[in-house]
Amino acid sequence: MIRMDIEDEDDINKARRRVRGFLSENGIDRYPLLRSYMLTIVSELARNIYLYAKPGKVNVSMIDEGKKRGIKLEFIDHGPGLDLEKMKKEELGKNGLGLGLTGSKSLSDEFYIDSSPGRGTHITCIKWIK
Ligand SMILES: Nc1ncnc2c1ncn2[C@@H]1O[C@H](COP(=O)(O)OP(=O)(O)OP(=O)(O)O)[C@@H](O)[C@H]1O
Ligand SMILES: [Mg+2]
Repeated sequence: MIRMDIEDEDDINKARRRVRGFLSENGIDRYPLLRSYMLTIVSELARNIYLYAKPGKVNVSMIDEGKKRGIKLEFIDHGPGLDLEKMKKEELGKNGLGLGLTGSKSLSDEFYIDSSPGRGTHITCIKWIK
């Protein structure tokens, strides 16, 4: 598992580089599409932390569930939180909401947002290796 702090703009690229190394160490270079999806999510959601909620953290780990092996990306901050009710009504990706969250969701096999105003945001993305 690797843990990274997101505080400066530079940390977004640092996180992306460290995740690339971590994926490589774990044999993910054999899955270039999967690797590029994971790196896109890291860039988008680390940038969201930097823009809207810094400081925050990114944790990346390999996970096993039965015979399945996967990658788990977590994005944790204690910023203002997302207004999930409002976003549900407007639907992710519409009415000025950007591509960061919608894109990250569609690139993941499992995508969870735990957030409330004042408490912060915890986003979990899981991608299973097929
Ligand atoms: N970690 C976060 N904490 C608080 N608000 C957030 C966080 N991440 C996203 N948001 C809010 O959710 C909105 C949608 O995020 P999303 O990444 O989908 O789009 P965007 O950042 O506005 O645009 P894009 O990512 O396309 O440049 C943001 O505009 C911001 O208001
Ligand atoms: Mg964004």
